[in-house]
Amino acid sequence: MPNIITLKNINKVYGTTIKTQVLNNINLSFEEGSFNSIIGASGSGKSTLLNIMGTLDNPTDGEVFIDSKRTDTMNKNELADLRNQTIGFIFQFHYLLPEFTCLENVLMPYQIQSSKLTKDHINRAEELLDLVGLSNVKNNLATNMSGGQQQRTAIARALMNNPKIVLADEPTGNLDSESTENIYQLMRDINKKFNTTFIIITHDKGIAEKADRIVEIIDGKVKMEMELGS
Ligand SMILES: Nc1ncnc2c1ncn2[C@@H]1O[C@H](COP(=O)(O)OP(=O)(O)OP(=O)(O)O)[C@@H](O)[C@H]1O
Ligand SMILES: [Mg+2]
Repeated sequence: MPNIITLKNINKVYGTTIKTQVLNNINLSFEEGSFNSIIGASGSGKSTLLNIMGTLDNPTDGEVFIDSKRTDTMNKNELADLRNQTIGFIFQFHYLLPEFTCLENVLMPYQIQSSKLTKDHINRAEELLDLVGLSNVKNNLATNMSGGQQQRTAIARALMNNPKIVLADEPTGNLDSESTENIYQLMRDINKKFNTTFIIITHDKGIAEKADRIVEIIDGKVKMEMELGS
């Protein structure tokens, strides 16, 4: 499989007078269809790295390639298009809108983006909610769902644009071990079914070890890369 994300000599420095180098000459590639975990201590630079891969943040220097396109030189509109077409995000705090239903939350990006919410969007959202096992609660308000159900809603929302890549930052950070296992299984099923590339930051050893590959970040550097049998 070809690489879907390539990072070349990525550095990230925060601050102008007092400079903090958060990422230090990172070189990493991710194969299309692979399931990867990123581990490392708090403050090591994992979220910064993921945000750069997701084009939400720019490196101070270095090159980023996503789906064979160089992105660090793209303008805002080009980046927004690329993200909409290629990347789905899942965060630790799922950012559902509490006063909207599960289904409305999954449709939210389309309701915001264009007033043209079509029947196709609704059908797709319903299919995805079925896939993540939420058909029976799709009309519940977000506040009336469990943490695991809310996180599955966020996964369905991330899949709406049929992304080639899903970037997840601590997707199970707030869940008990059973919900964590369920969310892992769900992401794995999606990975196998649609060949979606997953890159998941996790503190959960169980998830990290079930990935195809573990990347460990220490003090802004890649310290270990390990291929695991899948
Ligand atoms: N906007 C910012 N301005 C200045 N420093 C920042 C900024 N964002 C992050 N940092 C610093 O960069 C370093 C890496 O942060 P990052 O959020 O990438 O860590 P992390 O590995 O995701 O940690 P955690 O596991 O706690 O989420 C930290 O020292 C943090 O304080
Ligand atoms: Mg983080």
